[in-house]
Amino acid sequence: MQTLVAVIGLQFGDEGKGKIVDKIVAEAQKNNKTVVVRFQGGTNAGHTIYAKDKDNNLVEFITHAAPTGLATNADIAIGPSVAFDPERFVEELTKARELFNYTGRIMISERTGMLLDYHRKLDAWKETKAKNIGTTKSGIGPFYKDNADRLTRITFYDYVSEHFPEKLKEVLEMKKSDLLGAKITEDIDAYHKELLTAHEKIRKELKQYIEILEYRMREYLDKGYNIIIEGAQGTNLDNDMGTIPDVTSSHLLAPHAFPTLGLPRKLFKIIGIEKIYPTRVGNGKLPTLEEDVFGPKVVKNAGEFGATTGRERRVGYPDWALVKRSVMLNDCDGIIMTRTDCLQNMDIKAGIGYVIKGEKTEELPLDLSLIEKPIFLDKTFSWILWKGHEDLSNPLEMDALLKEQRTNYVKNGFDSLPEGLKDYVKEHDKFVGCPIIGISLGPGRDETVDIKWNVG
Ligand code: IMP
Ligand code: MG
Repeated sequence: MQTLVAVIGLQFGDEGKGKIVDKIVAEAQKNNKTVVVRFQGGTNAGHTIYAKDKDNNLVEFITHAAPTGLATNADIAIGPSVAFDPERFVEELTKARELFNYTGRIMISERTGMLLDYHRKLDAWKETKAKNIGTTKSGIGPFYKDNADRLTRITFYDYVSEHFPEKLKEVLEMKKSDLLGAKITEDIDAYHKELLTAHEKIRKELKQYIEILEYRMREYLDKGYNIIIEGAQGTNLDNDMGTIPDVTSSHLLAPHAFPTLGLPRKLFKIIGIEKIYPTRVGNGKLPTLEEDVFGPKVVKNAGEFGATTGRERRVGYPDWALVKRSVMLNDCDGIIMTRTDCLQNMDIKAGIGYVIKGEKTEELPLDLSLIEKPIFLDKTFSWILWKGHEDLSNPLEMDALLKEQRTNYVKNGFDSLPEGLKDYVKEHDKFVGCPIIGISLGPGRDETVDIKWNVG
């Protein structure tokens, strides 16, 4: 069977998409060859996976610029809506070649925009202002602004062509007042030279990967390859449909991937990734965050710190109403629930709506400060997943301790899970209206219970 899947985050990013994509790719590759595609965002993403290196040691591998397929020897592609940071990409590729002997084919759309030094610096400079977003300082906002502005967009085609020096000069001149204002340089000519030198080798290395990607993706489809589309960030950070202004600058909803990659939505399953509890970094509210023991305990048990910035993430109670909206926007066929291993022996409340102007509603408003309080389901959930290990600590340390119990759950499937958790899933399915088709119980590839594909 050909696996055709798009994976999207249903909350605020950091749902564990990287791990799930890695798992789906590893499974799918048993049947067919595979291509993994990134379709938006840039190095603001941090996808953490635990994979076996070429010496068979379990290693942590974090990708920011590249899709996670690097650890599985799948082919990889970069779509036209990606904020492509060539310097970071080459670093990751080099590391993957050392760690995993990566030899897959690489394709970059000729349309993809280039994220360069001044984007990162402009982003960092903007973040010093009184009013900021709490961005990852990866240059995302300034990059998409340049893309939208058209003449300041440097495509991958420009980047690897002979005319790159002139194009770059033109763009730097157009952006001169910004660059001087943010004290990125005092001398445009010198800065131009500096950038050309920094990119000379990288341009030569990457040139071979240019493609009119939409046609290549069709060929993959026709040849029976598995195609895994990897989303970054999460639904509520979408530039139009997230919590404006505390959002990222890309259009990240899964359906956006299809036209940009030349692929038909109707052949694909869209799988939403939901971390059992929502987290958020940077500015912006979490509707179900309560000042009680739940959040701090989860931060400690689950090690909730950002893969990109190292910042501590804020943790709220499960927000099913928010997830239901994300499922609607992305047209999801199924949900995979992650970090389930990090909750146990706690009173878990489930958000099913909000009180706004004294009225109960399921609808998430743009302005989250209108929410007076969340509404929770009239029962709480509790379970013990790990017998004899009530006090959970760092997931990697836990790994060895819990191995046997985890293996049994994975082997025996959904029915073997604790009753409280099964009840949680049943009520969640009923409320959200989209089935949970997989439950992740750990960071490794073989630690996910049941992925049922016969949905949607
Ligand atoms: P930017 O994408 O770096 O411009 O950041 C804008 C907002 O999105 C900030 O609140 C970031 O913390 C958040 N953000 C961006 N990328 C991610 C991600 O991959 N995971 C979680 N939050 C993210
Ligand atoms: Mg992340």
